[in-house]
Amino acid sequence: MTARNVLIVDAHPDPCPERFVHALADSYAAGVRDAGGDVRRIDLAGLKFDLLDSRSQWEEETPSPEIAAAQQDILWAGHIVFLYPLWLGDMPALLKGFLEQVARPGFALGTGAMPAALLKGKSARIVVTMGMPALFYRFFYRAHSLKSFERNILKFVGIKPVTHSIVGNVEGEPEHRQRWLARMGELAAEDVRG
Ligand SMILES: Cc1cc2nc3c(=O)[nH]c(=O)nc-3n(C[C@H](O)[C@H](O)[C@H](O)COP(=O)(O)O)c2cc1C
Repeated sequence: MTARNVLIVDAHPDPCPERFVHALADSYAAGVRDAGGDVRRIDLAGLKFDLLDSRSQWEEETPSPEIAAAQQDILWAGHIVFLYPLWLGDMPALLKGFLEQVARPGFALGTGAMPAALLKGKSARIVVTMGMPALFYRFFYRAHSLKSFERNILKFVGIKPVTHSIVGNVEGEPEHRQRWLARMGELAAEDVRG
């Protein structure tokens, strides 16, 4: 996959700069720019939006200006990177709430019983950090929440291929985090150049 226009969705609910997800997002953004790509970024911790509470709201309501702007960023992007910490085995509720808001019928999906996928032609990368070792999440938990995000949300709306980076032991050695920061830059360059 190659993509010049890259949208970074930093989905850590905590805006504190010490959160490692923000540093990973910064490294990835720098890597995209170094490789000649353009970056847009959405920081969910600073984005104000309500949770959806009805089907009619999802189908009929005009999205808020913040959500409409995020949809424009998604349309602009050829590649979307989602970064988040694993919370209770899954994505933080803030990211799920954001995805429900943006992935509306008429934008991400067609209507009807077998809705068409409307976001084809884009790729994605998921970067998830966690306290447990990556191998434990991959083999004991079978990376279930990651696979659900890939298959039931991203591929469902037409976004593929989807690659992922599982950053385990995130509260361990500082050298481990440094290696991942460097790796983010390399992955960004690969995603831009193919
Ligand atoms: C509410 C909450 C739930 C968490 N649940 C899990 C979990 O289910 N599995 C796990 O390995 N780590 C879990 N963690 C640890 C976080 O994944 C870890 O602190 C985070 O990835 C570190 O990145 P950060 O510095 O960007 O916050 C949890 C942390 C919090 C605050």
